[in-house]
Order: sequence, then structure tokens, then C-alpha cells
Amino acid sequence: MKSAPPPVSRGLGPASRAPRPNVPFVGTRPPEDAPRVLDVIGVTKRFGDKVVLDDVTFHVPIGEFLCLCGPNGAGKSTLLKAILGLIVPDKGSILIAGLPAREGRSKVGYVPQRKAFDRDFPASPLEVIVANVRGRWPLRITKEERELAMAMLEKTGAAALANAQMRDLSGGETQRVFLARALSTKPDLLILDEPTAGVDVGGRAAIVDLMAEISGSETIAAILVTHNLQAVARCAERVVYLERSVKAWGLWSELSGDQDLSAIQIASGDHRALAMDGD
Ligand SMILES: Nc1ncnc2c1ncn2[C@@H]1O[C@H](COP(=O)(O)OP(=O)(O)OP(=O)(O)O)[C@@H](O)[C@H]1O
Ligand SMILES: [Mg+2]
Repeated sequence: MKSAPPPVSRGLGPASRAPRPNVPFVGTRPPEDAPRVLDVIGVTKRFGDKVVLDDVTFHVPIGEFLCLCGPNGAGKSTLLKAILGLIVPDKGSILIAGLPAREGRSKVGYVPQRKAFDRDFPASPLEVIVANVRGRWPLRITKEERELAMAMLEKTGAAALANAQMRDLSGGETQRVFLARALSTKPDLLILDEPTAGVDVGGRAAIVDLMAEISGSETIAAILVTHNLQAVARCAERVVYLERSVKAWGLWSELSGDQDLSAIQIASGDHRALAMDGD
């Protein structure tokens, strides 16, 4: 008697939660000759005996919007810290626009996780932005500085909040101010670490709209870490799926296709990793 064919995982149910093969999904990578804003080359990082990043290699061309996905503990934040020059890899290297991470830092805009900000600090959005541009706290704000900060706040729909106190802002408003702050130095690369986490549904939609707009820019590249599948679907040109090493790298359109979805479980049985309306 012929045995039944093995069940095909559609991405849901126990079959899709079986251990995945340690073979990376190879999708369409950026053209080799496209100028790059970021090179991550063979990056390995250990904490004690634990290998958190294992030979991670990918690159981001100028203007590309990349989503960095992966389950909790996959090493995403560790990788961002290495890109920001806050930690040094044990092996491998990171180049920002061809420069070592520390030297290229001025080309990077960073939107931290909301919890990283001391919400009691007495400051207005205007001061927060000018301080970022100057590199120190402003005692007096010049006309030019005010104009630049206001232009950025207008871009992110937060102009009316310019003179408010940061501690009074909602989660979504805070993230809009941080996005304006990150854009104020005209970065080549924007790093967004779970910018919709802890933000209510309305605020989340506004932030995803803004990110989708940035995704259309040909000059600003971005790396977005998120567990929000809607944000990925709207913004991502390419996706890197990280789980200690790079498990998939390709166009979102490839990775979200039915077949490949189950192949890498990008949004599938791994409900913890990506959620339709999650952070
Ligand atoms: N400074 C550190 N010392 C020791 N272990 C660390 C340190 N930072 C991170 N780790 C460990 O490294 C692993 C990866 O952590 P990381 O924060 O990079 O994961 P993540 O992908 O950002 O997860 P999440 O989605 O939960 O934010 C975790 O097991 C974490 O406990
Ligand atoms: Mg993290």
C-alpha cells in the first residue's frame, strides 16, 4: 500500500513548529555592485560561553528598507548595538558607508526602544531635537535650529507638541518625536528598534505610515526590528531573518509567498516571532 505523502506545512500547527533545518533561505540579494550604506561581515559575538551572533553577514544598499526579524533572544538588539558601535564583535567587522562603525556613527539615526528613555527628564521635543543636532544640551536655541527642529517635527506630524514636556506625551507621540530627532541629522541609515512597541493602535498606525513613507525614500536606508507583521508588510523591501545566524535573506515578496513562508516560518508557526497586530 502506498503511504500517504508527508503533510505540507502551511505555516500553522505543530508541523510548522518542528525544528527548522539549519539551511539558510536564499532569496534575491541586493545587486553586488549597488553602493552600500551598511556591511555586516562575518560578525560573531559571544556573551560568556553563549554564542549570540554566529558569523552574521549581510549588507544594505543605499536607500533600502530592511526588516530584521527573528524570535526573542535571536540576537537582533545585540546586532543593532554592534552597528551603533556600542559593542565590539568578537569576530568580523561592520562598515557604515565604508567606514568602521564608530567613525560612521554620525551617519546613523537611531530610534531607541521607548523604555530606553528616562521619561521624567524635564525637556521639550524642541530641546531634545536641537540637543541631538548640536551634540550637547542647548541653553539657547537659535532661529536656524528652531526652524530645522520644527521642519522635522512637521514631517512626523508632531509640530503641535514642540514645546510640550516629553513626560506628558503618549507612547505614539514620543515615538514621533524620536523619529523627528533621528531624522534631524539627515542620516543615511535609520535604525528603528521596535518603534511600535507599547504604542496604542492609533499611534502604531501613524508610525507605520511614517515608516512606509521613509521606505519610499531613495536616500535614507533603514533597519527596522519589529514583531509587527503589518509594519513588515507595508515597509520592508528586504528581510533578514536572524536566529543567531542569518536564516533567510531576500525580498519580502519572496519570503511572504506561501511556499517560502512555511520554509522559513517567517510569520508562521512561530507566533512569538511575528504577530499581525503585535509590537
Ligand atoms: N550584555 C549581555 N550579557 C549577557 N547576555 C546577553 C547580553 N545581551 C544580550 N544577551 C543575551 O543574548 C541573547 C540575544 O539577546 P538580544 O537582546 O540580542 O535578542 P533579541 O533578538 O533582541 O530579542 P527580543 O526580540 O526579545 O528583543 C539573549 O539570550 C540575551 O539574554
Ligand atoms: Mg531586542
